[in-house]
Amino acid sequence: MKGVILAGGTGSRLHPLTKVTNKHLLPVYDKPMIFYAIEAMVKAGIGEVLLVAGGNNAGDFIRLLGSGREFGLRELNYTYQQNAGGIADALALAEHFAEREPILLILGDNILEYSIADHCRQFNQRSEGAMLFLTSVDRPWAYGIADCDADGRVVRIVEKPTAPATNLAVIGVYLYDQHVFQVIKNLKPSGRGELEITDVNNAYIKRGGLMAATVEGYWVDAGESIDGYLHACNLVARHGANKDRQP
Ligand code: DAU
Repeated sequence: MKGVILAGGTGSRLHPLTKVTNKHLLPVYDKPMIFYAIEAMVKAGIGEVLLVAGGNNAGDFIRLLGSGREFGLRELNYTYQQNAGGIADALALAEHFAEREPILLILGDNILEYSIADHCRQFNQRSEGAMLFLTSVDRPWAYGIADCDADGRVVRIVEKPTAPATNLAVIGVYLYDQHVFQVIKNLKPSGRGELEITDVNNAYIKRGGLMAATVEGYWVDAGESIDGYLHACNLVARHGANKDRQP
């Protein structure tokens, strides 16, 4: 399995903090935001990671993260997304890097209390379909929201719904098989002109290949709003991040 971390986008929701730097370089408690995604990859046992940067500060990622070896990665590769065309558009840049291996995709502004190493192992054994992670949120209109049937199976995901069917958010951590790049090639841009990761996940639901797991501990999207950013700093200070799960 290989890892992809997204660190592009415009960071407009954190203006003016992101006016002269990239959101993922901002501190979250005692480390730059991007460190948490890198550490999550290392904890999940992934040795080769591709970081997708974008915007004006892409070079700063190399200065900050270098070869990735000091974090315990075997290889840290970099690529550049020319325009912020969406999460699925950024993931498409990883096709050659992936070499048909399964992929762990982490959005660079997402932070988890516990490591997802066990789920990665489970997915690696099966290596087919996709796996995503759900958690309850207070502001469902700000996320991709899962609609479930009576048996708790995810039947549909709606991106930032105005009338959310549940409060179960799809977090920015995803496991995909080798077919994900073909799925992306069949996508059309959404109303906001982006290739949406939610459309990728809905395509996997249609193929019957989507598994959903529940997040243990906290999950936070540190880039969702300025209050979300403050909340992320406080959660990390109080509880730490990427901890080993309790047996
Ligand atoms: O955090 C979880 C949410 O992330 C999910 O619930 C949503 O379904 C998913 O669409 C996404 O929503 P956001 O509105 O939070 O996405 P955002 O635009 O903040 O981008 C997420 C990350 O992806 C961020 O770290 C920047 C990166 N990104 C984003 C875009 C649009 C890129 O690298 N390139 C892009 O073109």
